[in-house]
Amino acid sequence: AFEVELRRTGRVVTVPADSSVLSAVRAELPGTLYSCEQGFCGTCQQRVLEGEVDHRDELLTDDERGDSMLICVSRAHTERLVLDM
Ligand code: FES
Repeated sequence: AFEVELRRTGRVVTVPADSSVLSAVRAELPGTLYSCEQGFCGTCQQRVLEGEVDHRDELLTDDERGDSMLICVSRAHTERLVLDM
């Protein structure tokens, strides 16, 4: 498991090994946009402020990976990610 801080919301959620960042975030922010949940549509893209992302999508460019992630599939290499949401 790892933690995701929603900096603008002021909340921290835990992401278990068998669940996605998207699921954990939606528990706090039910209006969070998503569609395919498989890492190919880009709808769930969010800006990353801190932490090292374990990118598991096939969509984002290296440039985009510098400061964002697809929260439906990607995970964390660090114990905490901080998202701009
Ligand atoms: Fe489609 Fe995440 S919901 S890439």
